[in-house]
Amino acid sequence: MAKAKRKFVCQQCGATAPRWQGQCEDCGGWNTLVEEAPETVFATRHDLQGGGRVLALAGLDEATTLPERQTTGIAEFDRALGGGLVAGSATLIGGDPGIGKSTLLLQAAAAMARRKLSVAYISGEEASDQVRLRARRLGLGDAPVKLASATSVRDILTTLGKGATPDLVIIDSIQTMHSDLIESAPGTVSQVRASAQELIRFAKERGTALVLVGHVTKDGSIAGPRVLEHMVDTVLSFEGERSHQYRILRAVKNRFGGTDEIGVFAMVEEGLEEVANPSSLFLTARDENVAGATVFPALEGTRPVLVEIQALAVRLASGATPRRAVVGWDSGRLAMILAVLEARCGLSFATCEVYLNVAGGYRIADPAADLAVAAALVSALAERPVPRDAVFFGEVALSGEIRPVAHAPLRLREAAKLGFGEAGVPASLASGKGGGKGGGAKGEGAKEGGDNGGLRLHGYRTLAEYVDQVLGRG
Ligand SMILES: Nc1ncnc2c1ncn2[C@@H]1O[C@H](COP(=O)(O)OP(=O)(O)OP(=O)(O)O)[C@@H](O)[C@H]1O
Ligand SMILES: [Mg+2]
Repeated sequence: MAKAKRKFVCQQCGATAPRWQGQCEDCGGWNTLVEEAPETVFATRHDLQGGGRVLALAGLDEATTLPERQTTGIAEFDRALGGGLVAGSATLIGGDPGIGKSTLLLQAAAAMARRKLSVAYISGEEASDQVRLRARRLGLGDAPVKLASATSVRDILTTLGKGATPDLVIIDSIQTMHSDLIESAPGTVSQVRASAQELIRFAKERGTALVLVGHVTKDGSIAGPRVLEHMVDTVLSFEGERSHQYRILRAVKNRFGGTDEIGVFAMVEEGLEEVANPSSLFLTARDENVAGATVFPALEGTRPVLVEIQALAVRLASGATPRRAVVGWDSGRLAMILAVLEARCGLSFATCEVYLNVAGGYRIADPAADLAVAAALVSALAERPVPRDAVFFGEVALSGEIRPVAHAPLRLREAAKLGFGEAGVPASLASGKGGGKGGGAKGEGAKEGGDNGGLRLHGYRTLAEYVDQVLGRG
């Protein structure tokens, strides 16, 4: 057997190096390399003379059964999972500290335990009493969840292996677990990997659904090795602004379903509450016509969410450099829209401070919001409110053209469902011709009862066309 080599592992990205160095060559992180237990180097070629088993290769058309799914008792959680937890699968849930991972899983554990399923909740972070207190606060104190506070994978597997196998095992969190097969400290890459491997093997062998909680690093990726995400079947990410109520559970990877569904929750005193109609969270009370506010039908996966975009333009008397501040949107994109408004539509924001806010702490990355943002900015500058029952979407090109965007019918239907009456959209949509011209500023092209949900559509070919209409320029 060859001599064991020393191994230094980057705690940020999991890259290995043969010697210590100040900076990781892979991710560029400083001071992230830590020596870990060496891996034994075996001969690089198999000796095929000894003991291999011949596998029976089979076709794709063999009879198979769909994996059995267990509903978690929380519809929004099930939705993100693609229909519930699959027996014998491993699910990883990552999220910022304090976002509500333990709360969500405790609620799911209690709901499942109340349905006579056997559920084990292993906390490596909190003492059992702490978990009990949380359960009591959430009104789940009487649920027959089996609770333990432990960090040794060996102890956990010994306990779980005794008696009937639980239907669901929750490990909160994988970073606190340690396997005594490996020498390094808990939380290091090799420990996380080894602990996860052992737990996942147990889950697959026994047909238990395993849920691992994972910490995330500052940039939002799951701490520890990237390989952890490869080892599990499903990766969910629990997101939201801590200062705001809403939380979104999003599937990042799913071997048993799609990744385009999300679960929406609101964090309240009694824990996480399901939000069946997310638009109600992000639309602020809209009684009065205020200049600078528009509504954008955003999409979360395949789910439309209406959000309000607020803009404020403040004229500066002095020659000071005006500020541009953005919350919930990309500041580069705001600069672009301002530039297009200036160069193509003749509106100058040069002497104005510009503030842009997406209500409710929502974050938009969809370019379809361009037109809604532009409309909010124009409305703020001109101090003319946009009609209260209007939504806007469309991508603005540097040429000032308004481009079609994905899933327009879905956006329109949601807006119609929530009582909106008109929509500012790319011209091609209003005229009913995919990508064609026409429609015009007045938007006579409204198709009643079509796939637009009965909304009056106003199509705009260019942003200038919209600005001209708002300002009454001919
Ligand atoms: N007494 C309380 N009353 C109301 N809300 C509370 C109370 N205690 C905690 N919370 C809410 O629960 C959240 C913490 O949830 P939880 O412990 O489930 O988060 P977590 O994601 O597991 O965090 P960590 O990564 O630290 O384990 C807090 O951010 C807070 O919003
Ligand atoms: Mg927790």
